[in-house]
Amino acid sequence: MAFAKDFVWGAATASYQIEGAVAEDGRGESVWDTYCKRPGAIWENQSGEVACDHYHHWKEDVALMRKIGLKAYRFSIAWPRVVPDGVGAVNPRGLAFYDRLVDELLAAGIEPWPTLFHWDMPQGAFDRGGWLNRESADWFADYATAVVDALGDRVRSWFTLNEPQCFIGFGHRDSLQAPGLKLSRSEWLRAGHHALLAHGRAVQVIRSRAKGPCRVSWAPVGWSKMPATANRDDIDAAREATFAVTDEMINNAWWMDPVYLGRYPQDGLRLYGADAPKVLPGDMDLIAQPLDLQAFNTYNGQLIRRGADGRPELVPHPTGYPMNFFHGSITPPCLYWTAKFMYERYRLPVVISENGMSNADWVGLDGRVPDGPRIDMLRRYLLELERAADEGVPVAGYFLWSLMDNFEWSHGYKQRFGIIHVDFVTGRRTLKDSALWYRDVIATHGGKLHEGL
Ligand code: FCB
Repeated sequence: MAFAKDFVWGAATASYQIEGAVAEDGRGESVWDTYCKRPGAIWENQSGEVACDHYHHWKEDVALMRKIGLKAYRFSIAWPRVVPDGVGAVNPRGLAFYDRLVDELLAAGIEPWPTLFHWDMPQGAFDRGGWLNRESADWFADYATAVVDALGDRVRSWFTLNEPQCFIGFGHRDSLQAPGLKLSRSEWLRAGHHALLAHGRAVQVIRSRAKGPCRVSWAPVGWSKMPATANRDDIDAAREATFAVTDEMINNAWWMDPVYLGRYPQDGLRLYGADAPKVLPGDMDLIAQPLDLQAFNTYNGQLIRRGADGRPELVPHPTGYPMNFFHGSITPPCLYWTAKFMYERYRLPVVISENGMSNADWVGLDGRVPDGPRIDMLRRYLLELERAADEGVPVAGYFLWSLMDNFEWSHGYKQRFGIIHVDFVTGRRTLKDSALWYRDVIATHGGKLHEGL
């Protein structure tokens, strides 16, 4: 068996991480522009002001995607380009950029999969209270309306929000990302509830205004727990841990249960008690708009076993475990287990909306970028995803993070996640060995993964 015939081979990026051109064609400021000006907030005080300058290199970038043979491209639309102040007037010049990009992608045979929100909230919306203001769902719906009216005649696949766990958790709770707040628990939970309402509104906008049937999803973090052994008890413990709401920064069920099942999970409600958000009549129906896919971003997983007290217990990775340049572990089975557990619970076809690794890459004297560790990592992970598909999990697609090296949020340009190397001084792009390898994987529909095994 292998990947389904119509399996989507893609790669992903996000607006603030690649576009640059922050003051061009009427773009407003975003919370990330503001946050990057905070001394010490970003590694070496860098910012996305220029980034990959994709705003000017977009044609060249689509040509490179074509060379790799991508079937789909996940990019995000910058809210502050479309509605510069976050609320009110729409900026046609901002929309025109995505209009050109979508046409270029379609002409290259690459399916556009835009994300409506990958963290760059307009500063104007933030100044009106941002996600803490319940009206943020209305502002987001107005912005989504402008986008869908402009692109919905050609775009068939949409993501709404990227990783609410991160922009709420890291951005509003821990002050590790924009907007850099440390809110109380009841406040950040309220902001999160409003973000989920915004998701629901956006799904409604897409369904009602796009000119044709659409595939709609979102891209939360898929926080992965893998059984430490093949024992049934440890597998059950890993499944429980996958959906448990603990005070850990990131969890799945608090965010996903409302969207797929129409309710907050009981253990989360118990944990948060009086801090849980106030749910008004109709909120849950709005949040639980039917979706076509369950997408999630997964990079690595933790090992779990059944503890002596009967509860799931974290098992440390073996000494000397493989790591990426981000200091994250390399754990290929996380794709298998997370796809499996998520499908069991939510029963929708699975899309991996982000997966990849940062590596210490540079262009060699011979002009090549020999990123062997990334190739090996991707190969192992994709084989595990294929294993899930072989066992009957409907796996619909995979988006590699990232198409190109880019601005890695608080880590600045230190982390290189791309399969295309970007020289941030000259703007020059070089296909890494992994890009050429991924091209062959796509061309053989995964056959290349098995070469020599
Ligand atoms: C995810 C983000 C993405 C990128 C990768 C490495 O959390 O969605 O923008 O930063 O991590």
